[in-house]
Amino acid sequence: TTTRTIAVIGGDFIGPEVTAEAVKVLQAVTAPGSFALQPYDLGATAWQRTGEVLPDSVLAELAETDAILLGAVGAAPNSKDIPSGLLERGLLLRLRFEFDHYVNLRPSRLYPGVPTPLAPSVTEGKEIDFVVVREGTEGLYCGNGGVVRAGTPHEIATEVSVNTAYGVERVVRDAFERATRRRNKVTLVHKHNVLVNAGGLWRRVFEAVAAEYPQVTTDYLHVDAATIFLATDPARFDVIVTDNLFGDIITDLAAAVTGGMGLGASGNINPTGAYPSMFEPVHGSAPDIAGKGLADPTAAILSVALLLDHLGLAEEAARVEKAAISDLAARTGQQRSTTEIGDAIAAAV
Ligand code: NAD
Ligand code: IPM
Ligand code: MN
Repeated sequence: TTTRTIAVIGGDFIGPEVTAEAVKVLQAVTAPGSFALQPYDLGATAWQRTGEVLPDSVLAELAETDAILLGAVGAAPNSKDIPSGLLERGLLLRLRFEFDHYVNLRPSRLYPGVPTPLAPSVTEGKEIDFVVVREGTEGLYCGNGGVVRAGTPHEIATEVSVNTAYGVERVVRDAFERATRRRNKVTLVHKHNVLVNAGGLWRRVFEAVAAEYPQVTTDYLHVDAATIFLATDPARFDVIVTDNLFGDIITDLAAAVTGGMGLGASGNINPTGAYPSMFEPVHGSAPDIAGKGLADPTAAILSVALLLDHLGLAEEAARVEKAAISDLAARTGQQRSTTEIGDAIAAAV
């Protein structure tokens, strides 16, 4: 049997806390020796100590791994010590871009017994189970743009969204392929009534790819309207495909309506296998709850299920998801600590 190498990047604040539980579950569900876990100390404290966010030598090592498990990086939103975006751009986005993670896969399911802010009329008798295929390498995340006349009353700041036919087509195609393995429905979310250039490209590519999948039903929503239906009728969604920023925003909402930020898992996937894919919770480093044992590790643990599935270990992935589902169903509303939840799920797999 081959040993797979997994890089583990805990990161900042609750990142290492939830990642420790995810690692526990990974070790519990796999045979000893089948995975070699390589921890990497990256994030705010590592930067403060070394002055480097992601050394090229580390990037080269990560490129040789089979997958990356990441917690979260980032300072408190009002921090004065850590420049905003330093870690997000220099570590997280750099990895997504360097490793060409063009499918940012973010599933949402309302599991039985999980408290939701959705009205009973929205959930009763409904299956809420959809996946957002968020483009991960383009859009407003490219860092295109700049500032002129900085600090003056005439300052002009621009962020330019990059959308290529190549980049849009490959992610739209992935969404349609995924839909054929699910309920055969794809919804494009964009804002082509205002963003006519990028929106036009997305729309044309979407329609061209759709023509190759006659069995798949298609739908289109402007992103503002999509937020309405995520709150009032999320059961209508199967696969949603959208650009980088819209996908970021709607997946926090998707997590919130299906049980909260503690449950949202994600994969940053390079489907070609040319680079390692990276698995992480949708949530961030949550400085507001760090160090208190309050972080729910379930999102990180469900990200391990996505990692296992990506590596072809579907049976192990299913065991992790099943254990998490049982744990969620058994929750009474009484607060359990991060490690209590991790221990329980690790014991159940
Ligand atoms: P956040 O997701 O960290 O927190 C938002 C809210 O959700 C907070 O109230 C937090 O306590 C709660 N929350 C998050 N995860 C939770 C969990 N596992 N269990 C229970 N509650 C949880 O978002 P933010 O406050 O906007 O960002 C904090 C920092 O994280 C910022 O520096 C941001 O840039 C960074 N960030 C990093 C990632 C990542 O590394 N993938 C993702 C998002 C944000
Ligand atoms: C996420 C995060 C990141 C994003 C940030 C931290 C760069 O919010 O993974 O959802 O916007 O993609
Ligand atoms: Mn986000």
